[in-house]
This record gives sequence, C-alpha cells and structure tokens, in this order.
Amino acid sequence: MTDSPPSDPAAPLLLFDSGVGGLSVLRKVRAMLPQAPVIYVADNAGLPYGDKTEAQIAARVSGLLGRLTERLRPRLVCIACNTASTIALASVREVLEVPIVGTVPAIKPAAAMTTTGVIGLLGTAATIRQSYVDRLEAEFASGKTLLRHGAPELVAAAEAKLRGEPVDPAVYARAAQALRDMPGGERIDTVVLACTHFPLVQDELAAAFGPGVGFIDGSDGIARRIAHLTQGQTWRRERSDLALFTRGGAQVDQLRPALAEHGLDRVEVF
Ligand code: DGL
Repeated sequence: MTDSPPSDPAAPLLLFDSGVGGLSVLRKVRAMLPQAPVIYVADNAGLPYGDKTEAQIAARVSGLLGRLTERLRPRLVCIACNTASTIALASVREVLEVPIVGTVPAIKPAAAMTTTGVIGLLGTAATIRQSYVDRLEAEFASGKTLLRHGAPELVAAAEAKLRGEPVDPAVYARAAQALRDMPGGERIDTVVLACTHFPLVQDELAAAFGPGVGFIDGSDGIARRIAHLTQGQTWRRERSDLALFTRGGAQVDQLRPALAEHGLDRVEVF
C-alpha cells in the first residue's frame, strides 16, 4: 500500500457494492467531500452477495476490485458493503496497492446509544454469521445483548424502492418482528443497519419497529475516514460522476433517476 497522494487531482474515489446499497455511503461522502470525483460500482451481476458462500464472495470481490483499480486508477477504494468487507477486506488489502476503506457493522456506536442494553442487528445472512461480527460484539458490546437477524428481503426491497417499484410493507414488518420475537427482543431500543442497503429503507423500518427505536449505520464513520485519508489532497471533479454496473438491462435503466439524485448521471456497463 502506498501513502503518497495521487498526482492527478481528477483521480476518483471508487465506491463498491453489490448493488445500490453503497449509495447510502455515497450520500455521506458527497456531503463531506463535494469536490471529490466518484466512480460508483455495483456488481449487480453478483447481487445478492448475502446468499453466497465466503469463498464465492472473496473470489468475486478480489477479482473485480483488482480489474477495476487497474483500469480506473482510483486514489482510494471504499468497499461500501458490509458483506464484502466482513469477508474480504483483509485479503483485498493484501493484494491492492491503494488505500481501502471497509464498512464495519456499527456495533460500537450502538453500544454507546442503547439504554436498555438490547441491540438489534440487521444484516445479510452472510454478514451475521461472520467471526468479524463476533469480535466486534466481544470488544464493544460485552455486557449488552446483541440480537442478529439476516434479512435478504430488505436488500431486494431497497433495490425495488430505488427502481421506483412499490414494496409490500409486510417485508419491513417481518424484519422487525423477527428481532422482537427473540429472547429480550421486546427491549430493543437500538438497531444496527449492518448492510448498506438498509439505510435506504430506514423510514420504512422505523415505521415497522414503532417509536422508541434508534437506528445506526457505519456511513458517517466511513465518510470521516475517507476525508481523513485524503486530507490535503487536491480534487478536480470535471463532470457528473459515473456509475458502473457489471450487468446492464432494464432494471439498471429504472435506477437512473435515483442514480442521478446521487450525482451519478453517467451509467455504463463494466
Ligand atoms: N449491500 C450489501 C451489504 O452491505 C449486501 C447486499 C447483498 O448483496 O446481499 O451487506
């Protein structure tokens, strides 16, 4: 890894996710670094990651990021995906010579927020079984109760919402109920959104949980980390930013308005 700043002020930040989830991170990055050129990459040909094995995710993410960084020469890569980060961050860091910022389930801030001591965590099935999450729980939430639920339906719901399609509110109710039904679940006052897709449906989840529940995700911390790592670097954002998808088609076209809202006016297939 090299710490020297890029000589090209147009060198982009590369944000990577399996789908549109990373847009919840891009919002925060954009607010903190408005001049930063961004390339947003959605590996929609591999979506959803949450149903895949560790080996499949690690191979896919390392391979793709290798090709992407070679072709696009980003100054920094942000893996805006909890599933990919909790599984592949360490191995990707070993092979890429560019600073990499990952997405970590926000268990530490959640432990500081909860007053009942019971925290819910919503992630993908792959994320919630990771030893990475066990370690965060042991380090930051010992003495608290952390209840985990894998909610792949919410990934599909967030994708559909951003395509402008209606989503059955029962999807959100089922996620809330699954956590409430666990021992101690009725005392949950804080929910970690441990998948970058989920802040995109936070209002719907808040309605499903009802009053008295706060939500936390890692996006603020990521934006601060990127700002810190690029401190003192110059930026030149010459035109609207680019969204790259690993598979084109009608569903990508339906996402264009949501992408444009995030400053991604150009859409291409990688
Ligand atoms: N957005 C991704 C995450 O943060 C995963 C969604 C998926 O592909 O299952 O975990």
